[in-house]
Amino acid sequence: MITRREFIRNGSALGTGLVLGAPAILSASAKNAPSDEIRVGFIGCGKQHEVLFNAMKNIPGLRYVAACDIMKDRVGGAASRMMSTFSLDTMPKRYLDAEKMLSEQKDMDAVIIASPDFWHAPHTVMALEAGFDVYCEKMMSNTIDGARSMVRAAESTGRLCQIGHQRRSNPRYIYTLEELIRKKKICGQIVNINGQWNRAVASSRDIGGDLINDPKKRRILPSDATLAKYGFGDLHRFFNWRLYRDLSGGPISDLGAHQIDIFNWFLGAQPKSVMASGGNNYFRDREHFDNVMCIFDYDTPEGGARAFYQVLTTTSAGGGYFEAFMGTEGTIEISERAAYTNIYRESSAPSWDELVARGYLKRGAAAGPAAAGSDAIAAYESAPPDKFELPGDLNKPPHQPHLENFFDAMRGKVALNCDARHAFESEAPIYWVNPAALERKTIVLGEEHLSV
Ligand SMILES: NC(=O)c1ccc[n+]([C@@H]2O[C@H](COP(=O)([O-])OP(=O)(O)OC[C@H]3O[C@@H](n4cnc5c(N)ncnc54)[C@H](O)[C@@H]3O)[C@@H](O)[C@H]2O)c1
Repeated sequence: MITRREFIRNGSALGTGLVLGAPAILSASAKNAPSDEIRVGFIGCGKQHEVLFNAMKNIPGLRYVAACDIMKDRVGGAASRMMSTFSLDTMPKRYLDAEKMLSEQKDMDAVIIASPDFWHAPHTVMALEAGFDVYCEKMMSNTIDGARSMVRAAESTGRLCQIGHQRRSNPRYIYTLEELIRKKKICGQIVNINGQWNRAVASSRDIGGDLINDPKKRRILPSDATLAKYGFGDLHRFFNWRLYRDLSGGPISDLGAHQIDIFNWFLGAQPKSVMASGGNNYFRDREHFDNVMCIFDYDTPEGGARAFYQVLTTTSAGGGYFEAFMGTEGTIEISERAAYTNIYRESSAPSWDELVARGYLKRGAAAGPAAAGSDAIAAYESAPPDKFELPGDLNKPPHQPHLENFFDAMRGKVALNCDARHAFESEAPIYWVNPAALERKTIVLGEEHLSV
């Protein structure tokens, strides 16, 4: 017998060419047939849940049926938000335990998981095995074996599993890769990549103290028994799970995962080795490094490339967060934030005037003066590159296109942009950065490091 979930996926694909012929992203006013409606539940209703929900509000054809969080206040807040945003007749069902939600909530098609990283694998595997399609936040897991179990579960159940590397569906990133790098080859040969996430001390401090230290707030926080049952142990670990080795991979996976994923996606390759160095030079009592620098080595058809990545939680200087693809003819410094995105043309590269005239690029601010100052080492100085910009920007919340891709895939209209296997292939090298830094050695990445 065909299940409702299979009907959503196959029904629209088999139904008529009309649906397949419709634009991939329906307008906000589009009405889906009831059979096309996707019933959604959430696991983990913290900060990122709100970000995802705010992006999902703009996507038609979704019905919110359940929410789960081990913190009563948060699950209540999430359900009320859904109720008021959509003037629902019935409150979405509230759960304090994910296993209970997945076994009891029969009228649900998809689960959006935004729990802490060490819960991703158990939650995703349980949800897939219960027959639901899953959108799970990055990093897939705090361990490579956890990530492997997610790929296996997705493939053995045949359910959809999208991993929340939202840049994979961002039109600016897709345009940059497809049009500028692959078709127009504006970078020439990409020999180096340079990426970073630099975050100030003020944004990197421990959180939750205001709640933990206020006796009046104690009743809204998880009990000691709940903290023990769900693997946190105490309230500091509950709020600051990103700082602990058994709960998270630390800054290199929390922040680095977004960007190292872009290195691998744009190069279409996995690195063959990684070397790294990290330290606790400011946040001295943390289990994870507060700053990490690493270098990946790639074999590419053009002759190889080297990628440097740094995550610093002690300064915001140095240009924020971006990934720079540095080639012999041009460099594309791309970021989820348009303000951090810049494109440079080497003075010796073929002209880009036609690309500008045809709207592929916009001209940026004029280049600075040529290298002639008294401090310039004239014999070696390069002429400053011309600056360009992308022709457009994303006019939606950054997570919306990736969620749209997930729901469109559920309706059989498109393939997932970041399914569990592709996410794993891209994330696998990241799991080896902390070990390389801890052991102070280069790790040569082979099958045992990179495969499921
Ligand atoms: N894609 C992005 O840009 C992006 C940005 C931020 C966070 N994230 C990811 O989103 C996830 C959540 O991050 P966050 O900042 O919202 O963290 P958070 O701590 O604010 O929220 C996590 C929530 O999960 C709940 N929770 C913990 N264990 C649970 C369990 N066993 N069952 C049900 N609920 C449980 C907590 O009570 C909390 O409300 C992380 O994986 C993070 O890496 C992704």
